Amino acid sequence: MHQDLEKVLFTEQEIKEAAQRIAAAINADYAGQEVTFVGLLKGSVQFMADLIKYIDLKCTIDFMCVSSYGNGTKSTGRVNIIKDLSEPIDDKNIVIVEDIIDSGNTLNFINRYFSAKNARSVRICTLLDKPSRREVEIDVDYVGFEVPDEFVVGYGLDYQEYYRNLPYIGVLKPEIYA
Ligand code: IMP
Ligand code: MG
Repeated sequence: MHQDLEKVLFTEQEIKEAAQRIAAAINADYAGQEVTFVGLLKGSVQFMADLIKYIDLKCTIDFMCVSSYGNGTKSTGRVNIIKDLSEPIDDKNIVIVEDIIDSGNTLNFINRYFSAKNARSVRICTLLDKPSRREVEIDVDYVGFEVPDEFVVGYGLDYQEYYRNLPYIGVLKPEIYA
């Protein structure tokens, strides 16, 4: 595992501090209100778990699983729902919890889907943002870190389903997916 990485981008400690910083902003923005955090599986699992530890609001969590990638490293642009929400979201304040925004196709789809379900408000929280690769414009409300155009894994992010267990985020050696 570890030897498949070219370099570490964010350590476990740096990620924890980012989760605390974002949670503090969410706590302030939604003071006195209720929030539902919707994690996008599977990449957001570690981030969701860390983020909600520092949330000091009345809140619930839910998960959706959508796919746009197949098994490669490039978005296909098509989004399929693999697992839907388990609770209705009408009139709820939704914070989407995502691992990384790349082309923006996934969140563009989810945003439209949630609006159609009459959420009261929808905001986006992502640990990583790769703005150089955007194909559709997305308003991101909470960001942990911007990353360059490199394929990253760890802390929930995968390549062909592996590396999600790493407690840090790093760049995969190109020869692994070449
Ligand atoms: P988008 O629809 O292109 O914005 O892609 C979003 C999804 O693609 C993310 O939720 C990730 O699951 C996956 N993804 C995008 N870039 C990376 C990466 O560098 N490493 C691992 N997964 C990625
Ligand atoms: Mg994802």
